[in-house]
Amino acid sequence: MTCNFDTPLARRGSGCIKYDRRPDLDPFWVADMDFAAAPAILEALHRRVEHGVFGYAHPHAGLQDAVLEYLRTRRGAEVPPQHLVHLGGLVPALSLAARAFCGPGDALMTCTPVYPPFLNVHHDARVDLITVDHACEHGRWVFDWAAMERAVTKRTRLFLLCNPQNPLGRVFSLTELTRLATFCQTHDLVLVSDEIHCDLVIDETATPHVSALNLPPALAQRTITLLSPSKTWNIAGLGYAYAVIPDEALHRRFAATRGHTLSEINALAYYAAEAAYRHGEPWRQALLAYLKTNRDDLAGFIRSECPELSVSAGDATYLAWIDARRLGLENPADHFEARAGLFLSDGKAFGWPGWVRFNFACPHARMMQGLEKLRAAL
Ligand SMILES: Cc1ncc(COP(=O)(O)O)c(C=O)c1O
Repeated sequence: MTCNFDTPLARRGSGCIKYDRRPDLDPFWVADMDFAAAPAILEALHRRVEHGVFGYAHPHAGLQDAVLEYLRTRRGAEVPPQHLVHLGGLVPALSLAARAFCGPGDALMTCTPVYPPFLNVHHDARVDLITVDHACEHGRWVFDWAAMERAVTKRTRLFLLCNPQNPLGRVFSLTELTRLATFCQTHDLVLVSDEIHCDLVIDETATPHVSALNLPPALAQRTITLLSPSKTWNIAGLGYAYAVIPDEALHRRFAATRGHTLSEINALAYYAAEAAYRHGEPWRQALLAYLKTNRDDLAGFIRSECPELSVSAGDATYLAWIDARRLGLENPADHFEARAGLFLSDGKAFGWPGWVRFNFACPHARMMQGLEKLRAAL
């Protein structure tokens, strides 16, 4: 399949958060890609727009079938339709889980660094947050099991997992996932597994994604798996995600907690999601090949040109997690903004000040220009 990921797109002024929040800066922050959606998605959207009527939407049979087929073929899970909860996004689902399963005096737990909403949804539920740092072992990010055992309390109800991990790029192994699920079973926690990046694993043979849906039934019963085609096919602005909840009681409580707090899912989002799952695989393969080159060239550049920084080249996502602590700055993201006009994600929001996150899902030439600015600011 021919995909031209090299073509620069004029996104400024298109009402996109990445470019239009700070028009004065060169953005490599929020996790969306500077690539147009796959032609099959655009065609599905055009067809739906041509219909011309945009009343309240419903998850139509084609969408439902595409999701179940995706779960069967790509995630290796036979899921009955009644296990699904359709949602307008994953972040509301994290908040919903916190509100559904934690009460006053309870806590939820997660490991840092992590995607910022993981560190904030406890406010929605007015409960405590327990964080444990990931550890680095032989150059690989791992769970610090001993620290997790020390940190968990009797009032902890929920564990929020990000797998593949944003920002570390780790794809956790079956052994790690099983150990985490066992930890949740031992401490009677619900395991919420955010797998939004699971189709962005660069080498799926070397580091296959293992979904929480693949856990043995006794462990899977306490899981809520959150999925979406939105990151992989760059359709996050349309807003569609879903939860898979095998246990009936958890499903009921999660769904009931929605109350009137969430808006209806939009009609276009359903059709884009269906097209992504049904027809998006060749485009995804081409994307992964492109991202691999970007990831490797970014890591090579930082290693050879920016000795003050270090980067761990992740197995998944298009996000590089860069250690800038040796610069001795209080806020390296601010420094790169002031010195180079770069808009990077500040590690502080992920729980780790002194680090920055660089989004490399853009034309290669643009990424290299961004990296040159980074070097010049050192
Ligand atoms: C781990 C993770 N979860 C959720 C989201 C956002 O999900 P949504 O846009 O569906 O709310 C992101 C976006 O970057 C993410 O990285």
